[in-house]
Amino acid sequence: MEDLEQLDELLTCRLELGRKAVEPCTIVIFGASGDLTARKLIPAFYHLYREKQLPSPFRIIGFARREKTVEGWRQELRAALDQFSRTKPVDDAVWAEFAANVSYCQGDITDAGSYKKLANQLAAFDNERLRRNLLFYLATSPSQFGQVVEHLHHTGLLQKEDGAAREQRLVVEKPFGHDLSTAQQLNAELTRFAREQQIFRIDHYLGKETVQNILMFRFSNSIFEQLWNRQSVDHVQITVSEKLGVGSRGGYYEEAGALRDMVQNHLLQVLALVAMEPPVSLEAESIRDEKVKLLKSIRPMQPGQIAANVVRGQYTAGEIDGQPRPAYRHEPKVKPDSTVETYVAMRLLIDNWRWSNIPFYLRTGKNLPLSASEVRVQFRRTPHVLFALQCGSRLDANAITLRLQPNEGISLRFNGKVPGNSVEIRPVRMHFSYDSEFGAYTPEAYERLLLEAVSGDATLFIRRDEVETAWSIVDPIREVWGDRPLSGKEFYPAGTWGPVAADELLAQRGHAWRHPQPVT
Ligand code: BG6
Repeated sequence: MEDLEQLDELLTCRLELGRKAVEPCTIVIFGASGDLTARKLIPAFYHLYREKQLPSPFRIIGFARREKTVEGWRQELRAALDQFSRTKPVDDAVWAEFAANVSYCQGDITDAGSYKKLANQLAAFDNERLRRNLLFYLATSPSQFGQVVEHLHHTGLLQKEDGAAREQRLVVEKPFGHDLSTAQQLNAELTRFAREQQIFRIDHYLGKETVQNILMFRFSNSIFEQLWNRQSVDHVQITVSEKLGVGSRGGYYEEAGALRDMVQNHLLQVLALVAMEPPVSLEAESIRDEKVKLLKSIRPMQPGQIAANVVRGQYTAGEIDGQPRPAYRHEPKVKPDSTVETYVAMRLLIDNWRWSNIPFYLRTGKNLPLSASEVRVQFRRTPHVLFALQCGSRLDANAITLRLQPNEGISLRFNGKVPGNSVEIRPVRMHFSYDSEFGAYTPEAYERLLLEAVSGDATLFIRRDEVETAWSIVDPIREVWGDRPLSGKEFYPAGTWGPVAADELLAQRGHAWRHPQPVT
């Protein structure tokens, strides 16, 4: 056992050895009194600190309108941490050390004087790196991005020149725009005062361990990549299903819908990683170049083709795990005749040599029977001889499933003989589970993303052309849907796998959804 562990250690290839050390840095959070700071950002920074991954020294300044003392803010954050921390209980001693670096700046985003106050707080730090190496986290509404960067620029805290480009960075949250033109407008506002290299657009899916592993899995193994093409693959299914309904987020969701909320970002990102060509290097730009190339290879749909290739759905009342769920139209802040989709399924074709004519099916929805995200690569059937001749379509095709969450793992399905005197064949599964291999350590996506932003590595963030290309894929769909009323076939009861039209979408080509299975 010990020998095996030593061998694993010997064969572990550490790619981060050459990575530059994180330098002392000040993180300023705009919109600091919002949910995101308490639920995600502070818990992530606390864990990074606990694991000694934050630079030393570091400072965090929360910038928000409400009047509060530094001590009061720290107490609020501590109470939230008790609730949202991924490790419990919170370590008092670690928290006390961490919290000593956290302060508050009461200010109004629209007021130049508030930025002067912030600048004065920064100027009071005795470490030169803390004054200059700045990460601005814009946890505000996108409509405020423009004025925040403008004020930061005029106060001298955000500079666009070459030297400063690595020192002052902006992190922005999704939604990044509402469609292509609003995304372009946001990009124009941000790049007036910052270079593209200073802008870190978050898609939290890219911070997930299993999503990052897609590239490792594909490009560090010789056996799978040879099969990853139209010769061997029959089709690919990407599922992001959620058991939760819209709940209290009705107001936001009415503006977004599943297409903007999930497909434009998370699903297209996963698709890009699954289908892209190998990058020329592991540099951020090389990887992002390939992702953009892939997104640009997705065959555009003409308005007349949308209905045949994209299915929308909205949940009606139903039941999950014995609990009643209200219809979407009865959720708080949702219009009683809303046409907003809570489910989307689509077939995309990628016009390049590797994937020509291979369907990629994407689906996501709320109030589905199970929360699970997975990519299933379904291989071609065997030629119609021997077993296939007798078993027909009952002889299962091989598949590789990348289970992104929960119960993270990868499994390979192939057929085997059932032991015994009769000749029976059935699928069996070879499974790699993260938990059994590495122990139950799954850092929050935000921890990885914040660390990367602090160190200035943009690989896990979305580049301008990437976000704009993704909008250009979903915009035509949105336009065709418009305010058109939903037909009876576009509803699904909460607790089911979506509208029947989604099954028909696959059946057209002889395919069927393989629903994620609960792992016990
Ligand atoms: C967010 C969406 O980006 O992702 C939510 O706004 C969704 O609607 C969430 O629930 C899903 O993220 P995760 O990490 O739980 O799969």
